[in-house]
Amino acid sequence: MKVWDGLVRLLHWTLVAAVATAWLSTLGLGFVRWHEPAGYVALATVAIRLVWGLTGSSFAKFSEFVCGAGSVLRYVRQLRTNKEPRYIGHNPLGGWMVVALLACVASLGLTGWLYTTDAFWGEAWLDRLHYVLAWTLLGLIALHLTGVVFTSVRHRENLVQAMFTGRKKPLSPSENLDNLL
Ligand code: HEM
Ligand code: HEM
Repeated sequence: MKVWDGLVRLLHWTLVAAVATAWLSTLGLGFVRWHEPAGYVALATVAIRLVWGLTGSSFAKFSEFVCGAGSVLRYVRQLRTNKEPRYIGHNPLGGWMVVALLACVASLGLTGWLYTTDAFWGEAWLDRLHYVLAWTLLGLIALHLTGVVFTSVRHRENLVQAMFTGRKKPLSPSENLDNLL
């Protein structure tokens, strides 16, 4: 069944390319002038995703996958006993990871932009904050990839392929029941 609409997929892979370019450009490989444009592309991608999260298709909506603490804790308990249900959209932990990734990229874009303004240029704390956020993002990405691989293995479904095709196997009747418990 169709889960991730075209815009979600386009924005995801655009964000991956923009963040990778922004990060790699700081490594002295000779394309540092790409840093700011790539950072702005990442920022614009997040801005569009935020609007789409309020107005878009059902699985793209934040209201669909950003859960309360109770649901997250229950999911963690289910994980610890190997009884977590499969989700068609983001699972409760994955939902918060999406929020964390988007917030971190947005903060990077904003701090990066501020640093280039006359008012904040040369502010050491802002430079430091940008740096800390860049490493925090790298940590979140590592967790994100671990979550994607772990969930793909646990539920024997290729989530990376689903982020390209938009399609996932529908829930079976017994999986549906698991989701309700
Ligand atoms: C710069 C690195 C990355 C960032 C910032 C990032 C960010 C995100 C975000 C924001 C989402 C939520 C999608 C949405 O609802 O719009 C997401 C989902 C997803 N990402 Fe990434 N991603 C990154 C790298 C990757 C890579 C390299 C892969 C694959 C190898 C990947 C695979 C996925 C998958 C499979 C999902 C869907 C997860 C699910 O089924 O719940 N991501 N990612
Ligand atoms: C996804 C977005 C971004 C990522 C991952 C990112 C990452 C980084 C990293 C790792 C550094 C090196 C930090 C250091 O060594 O001090 C850096 C520096 C810098 N970034 Fe970004 N950045 C992003 C967006 C932006 C944006 C949108 C701008 C501005 C338009 C920007 C402007 C700068 C500037 C001016 C520096 C140099 C600061 C200095 O030399 O002290 N960045 N960024």
